[in-house]
Amino acid sequence: MRKHQKVAELNSRQRAWLEIERRKLRPGMPEYQEFRRELMPIEIELGMGFDAQESPIIYKWKPGQEANGFLMVTGGSGSGKTEALKLFGAGIAEHGIPIITIDFHGDVTFPGQTTVRLRAVSGGSEFGINPLVIEPAYIRQMGLGAKIQREVSRMSRAVGCMSEQQQSCLYHVMEQTYRQFGIREEDDSTWGRKPPTLADIVQGLSDGYRSGIEAFDKRTISSCWSKLRRICSNPVFIRGEPLRIHDLLAWNVRLDCSRLDLPSQLLVAETVLEMLFEAGRGEGEIPVKPETDADRYRAFIMIDEARVLTMGRGSPDASEHILNIMASQCRKFGIGLILASQMCSHFSREVHTNINTRLAMKRMDPDEAKKVAMHMGLVPRDLISSESPPGLGYFCGASTGGTVRLRLRQLAD
Ligand SMILES: Nc1ncnc2c1ncn2[C@@H]1O[C@H](COP(=O)(O)OP(=O)(O)OP(=O)(O)O)[C@@H](O)[C@H]1O
Ligand SMILES: [Mg+2]
Repeated sequence: MRKHQKVAELNSRQRAWLEIERRKLRPGMPEYQEFRRELMPIEIELGMGFDAQESPIIYKWKPGQEANGFLMVTGGSGSGKTEALKLFGAGIAEHGIPIITIDFHGDVTFPGQTTVRLRAVSGGSEFGINPLVIEPAYIRQMGLGAKIQREVSRMSRAVGCMSEQQQSCLYHVMEQTYRQFGIREEDDSTWGRKPPTLADIVQGLSDGYRSGIEAFDKRTISSCWSKLRRICSNPVFIRGEPLRIHDLLAWNVRLDCSRLDLPSQLLVAETVLEMLFEAGRGEGEIPVKPETDADRYRAFIMIDEARVLTMGRGSPDASEHILNIMASQCRKFGIGLILASQMCSHFSREVHTNINTRLAMKRMDPDEAKKVAMHMGLVPRDLISSESPPGLGYFCGASTGGTVRLRLRQLAD
C-alpha cells in the first residue's frame, strides 16, 4: 500500500481540509466559510439509538434531506434542549454555514461562534443595534414610509400597546428625523448617510412637546414620549458600532441578550431577524433544485427560549409576527430556523405548520406530552417520565426516516 497520497490525487474535500489546516482556519473565522462547498453535505451526529432490529445506530440530522431547515426542540426544564442546540450550532459552524444565535438566557455557547454581549449600560459592548439603519434594497422596493411604519409597529409591540394616535405621532417624528438627517426617499444618494438613532427620536418627541407638532395635542406627544423614553435611551440602541448583517453572518455571532429587559430583547430580536430575512430576500430565491446544501442553505438562525419572542408581547399567531413571516417564507431564501422552547404552545400555528423536523426531549407533563405526541406519531406515555435522565428524546424527520428514540450526544466542554 502506498504510504503517501500525492496532492494531485486528493479529492476536493481533502484538498480543502489541507488548506484549512495550512492556514490554521477554524469554524467561526470568516475565511473558513469560503470552504463551505467542499464541506457539504451538512450532517450532524445526533446521538445513539436503536433501529427497528434493536441494533445500535448513530442517528444524524441531514438538513439537505428535509423539506426545509426548520427544527423545533421542545421539552421540560432541564431535559437537555440547550445542550441539543449547542450540538446543532457547532455542527452547522463546522460545515462553514453561517449561524446566528439569539440568546435570551445567555447559555447557548458552542465552538465557532463570536459572542456579542448586549448590555444596558454604557461601555457594555463596542457593538449596538440600530433599528433605524437604512437597507437600500428594502427602501428601493418598499419605500421609506413602509420602513418607518414597520419600525413604529415594532416599537409599539416592544413597549406594549401604543394607541393609534401615539403611533401616528411616532411615525410623524420618525419621518421628520430622517429628513433632518438628510435622508429622503426620493433621492437614493442620501440613503447612505448616517442614520438617526432612537435617541434622536425621543429628542424629536421632547422638542415636539415644547414647540408643538401640528395635528397632535400635547397629551399624545407626552404619552408617546413616556412610553418610549426608556427603550430609546438604552445604550444598546444608541452607542457603539451598529452591527451589520455582513458581520453577523461572517462571524457566526451569538447575541447575548440576557442582560436586557424584555422590551429591549424583543426589539433586538425582531430587528436582527428582519435584517436576516431582508438580506436573504435581497439575494433572491435559492435554485429550485439546489445542487448541494451550500446552495440550499445560506444561513441558520437559532433561538433558545423562543417563548420570549413569541409570547413576549402581542399574539404569537399575528400574521405580521416576524417568526410567522420567516416560518412561511425563509426556506426559499435559504434560511434555516432552529427554535427551542419548553412547550409547543409557545409557537404559532404558522410555525407548527412549517416545521418539518422535531426533537422532543423526554420529561414532559401529561398535557404537553399529549400535544407533542400527536405531532410525532407517538403516544403521550412515550414522553412522560419523571426519572428520565437529561438528553433522552425523540427525533422526527426525513433524516432519520421518521420518529426515532435516541440519547443525544453532548458537546465536550
Ligand atoms: N445529552 C445530554 N447528555 C447528558 N447530560 C445532558 C444532556 N443534555 C443535557 N444534559 C444535562 O442536563 C443539564 C440541563 O440541560 P439543559 O440546560 O440543556 O436543559 P434545558 O432543557 O435547556 O432546560 P431549561 O428549559 O431549564 O433551559 C445540563 O447542564 C447537562 O448537565
Ligand atoms: Mg435551556
